[in-house]
Amino acid sequence: MNWSNTDHPHATPKHRPQFWRALPKIDLHRHLEGSLRLESLLEIAQTFNLDVPADNLETLRPYVQVTTDPANHIAFLSKFEVLRHFYRTPEIIRRLVYEAVSDAAADNVRYLELRFSPQALARVRNFPLEDVTDWVIAAANQSADDHNIQIGLIVTLVRHDPLPQARKVAEVAFARAGAGIVGLDLAGDEVRFPPEPFTPIFKEAKQVGLGVTIHAGEWASAKGVRQAIEDLYAMRIGHGIRVIENSQVLRLVLERNVPFEVCLTSNLQTGVVHSMNHHPLVDMLDLGLKVTLNTDDPAVSNITLTDEYGVAVNKLGLRYETLRRLTLNAAETAFLPPKPRSELMAKFEEWLPAPDIV
Ligand code: ADE
Ligand code: ZN
Repeated sequence: MNWSNTDHPHATPKHRPQFWRALPKIDLHRHLEGSLRLESLLEIAQTFNLDVPADNLETLRPYVQVTTDPANHIAFLSKFEVLRHFYRTPEIIRRLVYEAVSDAAADNVRYLELRFSPQALARVRNFPLEDVTDWVIAAANQSADDHNIQIGLIVTLVRHDPLPQARKVAEVAFARAGAGIVGLDLAGDEVRFPPEPFTPIFKEAKQVGLGVTIHAGEWASAKGVRQAIEDLYAMRIGHGIRVIENSQVLRLVLERNVPFEVCLTSNLQTGVVHSMNHHPLVDMLDLGLKVTLNTDDPAVSNITLTDEYGVAVNKLGLRYETLRRLTLNAAETAFLPPKPRSELMAKFEEWLPAPDIV
């Protein structure tokens, strides 16, 4: 992130990167598989002699991180296909999870909802889905305890994976509702895989008390946002930025006060927006939508949440008071029961300096 235009001697403290890094933050939309340390991936590739160029970090980087790729969702999703080959042993999975949570904490994310695809982690070695899920839960909780961060885990179903498997994965999540898993998500290729086949699964997710978040209105049209809300029981929308293209869907989300998990750099890298100056976040705020700011895939995108605050400030002109509001929005829409959610909101109200004193 280039902070240079605000790092001059007369910049007020709120304009310095250290200020944003130190600020307690919330990330509601972060994929485990997009949050893996490059150094660890290199070590795994070398140890297991994986079929990727792993002489050093730079030879490996373009296979697992966006570098000079074309800005489209196919190139972006291709990184996750490569990453599936790294999940070789239970110890590796636990280590990658532990590090992902600890890296969030190091960026002063104090509440993290981390989503993961058991089937992605299980695929190459044919691990039982139940076991993989329990390894993730245990390692994430251990890391959260060790690093002063509160976490919730969301299971992600991938649209372009085989449907019968999605049902099995969902069953594993249902069995852990309120006992390690807080929500269910639908991700993957929104363009070629519409959501209809997943409707019964998400209905059940709601019935068993899981939070529901759906990637929609990201790579396909705003209508996906309406489908997510009306047919899939979405309580939050992953991305959803194309909602501004459709006034009827806009009316719906305003009426229901639906929260949006916006991820700026991801949108640029997948070609949803062609330049950051054209990102609709400011329009969404002006329209009165409930917005939160998140990373999506920090390692694939080579960013931190602090970097994304930097983009919001330097490229989109957001001010501290707005970012404070987005963080409080995130606390308010966290997948937590009412009491812990109120406690989370109270903590962040206390931690985030009042706008007039910053
Ligand atoms: N998986 C990882 N990142 C994703 C995104 N931005 N959209 C859909 N699926 C994803
Ligand atoms: Zn995502």
